[in-house]
This record gives sequence, structure tokens and C-alpha cells, in this order.
Amino acid sequence: MINWAQLPFAYKKTHTNIRCVYSNNAWETITSHTDENVNLHMAASCLHYGQECFEGLKAYRGKDNKIRIFRWEENLRRLNKSANRLSMPSIPPEIFEQALRRLIEENKDFVPPYGTGASLYIRPLLIGTSPRLGLSPADDYMFVMFCSPVGPYFKTGLKPVKIIIERDTDRAAPLGTGNVKVGGNYAPALITTEKIHALGYSAALYLDPKEKKYIDECGPANFFGIKNNTYITPDSQSILQSITNMSLKTVASEILGLSVEERKVPLEELSEFEEIGQCGTAAVLTPVYEIYDPITKNHYTYGNPEETGTVCRQLFETLIGIQYGDIPDRFGWNTII
Ligand SMILES: Cc1ncc(COP(=O)(O)O)c(C=O)c1O
Repeated sequence: MINWAQLPFAYKKTHTNIRCVYSNNAWETITSHTDENVNLHMAASCLHYGQECFEGLKAYRGKDNKIRIFRWEENLRRLNKSANRLSMPSIPPEIFEQALRRLIEENKDFVPPYGTGASLYIRPLLIGTSPRLGLSPADDYMFVMFCSPVGPYFKTGLKPVKIIIERDTDRAAPLGTGNVKVGGNYAPALITTEKIHALGYSAALYLDPKEKKYIDECGPANFFGIKNNTYITPDSQSILQSITNMSLKTVASEILGLSVEERKVPLEELSEFEEIGQCGTAAVLTPVYEIYDPITKNHYTYGNPEETGTVCRQLFETLIGIQYGDIPDRFGWNTII
């Protein structure tokens, strides 16, 4: 028996995972596996040269017991952008959709019940599997899709956090791979995450890697600020285009009646915001009550640790309302299984 209310955000074995092999310049048919292990050649291009990209999306069970997958077409678009950036083949939409539907069908016992705040996290990944010693793209690839039930990030609902500006390391290079979701972006950030956690902060806020004048994003989440009834989020070549952020921009303008600006956000503007949030699939929205700048020693504050700002709360409640099917899906974001 799974204790749905206490589920952490961690891997949990389910019944099956789905795979599809690319060989001789063509995708084969999808297959379902109970084995959690992937058998790889020790010289596979994913292991040495990082020919690997991945995605993260969620499925939610509604009050009507239907399962809704949120905006999977956007995850496919981004996965293919990442794949092509690393000289890997695109995944055809029909293969992605078949894999997704079969994965959920075979693991529907693991889609948490409505009302627990939990959901099914889906992790597609694409790896180069051909042995390579010289640096060149693989000929063979494997697409894998697995899932894991996950609890809500914050068991007690929204919980504001404090974050810190990071200048000792960059998450991405100005024209590097920050705008795609490749494994090579994440391992180098672990050391920074450990450092800032030890200091008591929940996330690092990265600045633009070229000039260090503008806000980029927060580790694995996009950044937004609210002021004068406007939702403001950075426009930068080195950040990942978050699907949650894309959705919040629409909720902000079409449902909450806010203006939306996507533009460079100078560091000095931090003192002008009324509310700040981080957004991404895992937590959906994380309000920020403090940003610390270790160089200037400035503490920018937004409300307090006990209370989430009104706009962040409205954005969060509207978006999860759509995801769980409690609010009409007027933008056609959900695929119902
Ligand atoms: C670097 C980075 N930024 C932002 C996000 C949030 O993106 P999304 O809302 O699509 O999950 C993620 C997570 O995928 C990420 O890894």
C-alpha cells in the first residue's frame, strides 16, 4: 500500500517502462519492460560525451477519476530541440504519444488519487548508445520513458523560501546549452546546490553568464516577479524555456488580467518587485520571501516566510486547478486518458 499523502519527490518503481530503439536511421516499434536496468556498451556516446537529453512532465488524477497529462506536446517539442542540439535524431510525435499512453495505461495504479496533492511524474530520456572513442555522434539511440508517483513538493501547501544570488559558478554559457535540457547542464550545478543548501538557502539564483547584470533563472526553475499588476520574467538565451512559466504567463494575462513582460530583468529591479516566484514542473510554483546578494550584502524581501503573496497564490491555484481538472481547461492543455 502506498501512503500517497507522504510520498516524497523521489524515484519509486512502477510496473513497466517503455523503450524505443533507433537503428539504421529509423525508429523501431516501442516495447514495454519490467526491468529497470538498461544494458549499455561501456563506450556508449552517452557515457563519455554526454549525448543525453531528458524531459519531465506530469499526469494528474481528477475528481472525476480521469487521468490528465499536462501539455506533453510542449515537452516533446523541447526534447527534440535538446536532441538536435546534441546531434541526436528527433522523436516522431506518434512514437512519443504511443509511449506516453502505454506507460500510463500500464502504470495507472501508480497515478495518485485526487485530493492527495500527489501526481505521476513522467521522465522521457534519449541516449546515444553506439560505442565511440573518437568524438562523433552515435548511430544508435535509445528512447526510454519511465514514471514515478511523487508527492507535492510542499506537504503543507505553498511555502515561501529564501534563495541566494550565485556568482562563483555559471549554470550555462552565453551561447551554450542552457536553453536545452541536457544532463551535462545539471551535474556541474550539484556542487553549487550543496554549497547553498549548507548556507540555509533553498536555491541558487543565476545571473546572465555574459555580463552578470540580469537575472537568468534559479537552478531547475524559471524566475518571475510581480509588480504593478505585471508578471515579469527574464528573456535570456541561456535559460530553459519552462512550460510551467509559459502556462503561468497565459494564466496571468488571460485569467488574472495581469500584463505580462518577458524581457531582460536587471539585478537592481529586485528591489522593486512585490512578489517573486520560481516555477517548474516539480513544485509548480515556489514563492520566494528573500533573495540574498552575498556581494552587496543586500537582503531583498517579499512578504514573510509564513505567507504567500496574493498573486503567487492565485497563479498557483489556477494552474493546479486546470491540471487536476477542477477549473475548465480553456486552453486545451490537458490530454485525457
Ligand atoms: C533549468 C531548468 N529551468 C526551468 C525548469 C522548469 O521547466 P518546466 O516548467 O518545463 O518543468 C526546469 C525543469 O524542467 C529546468 O531544469
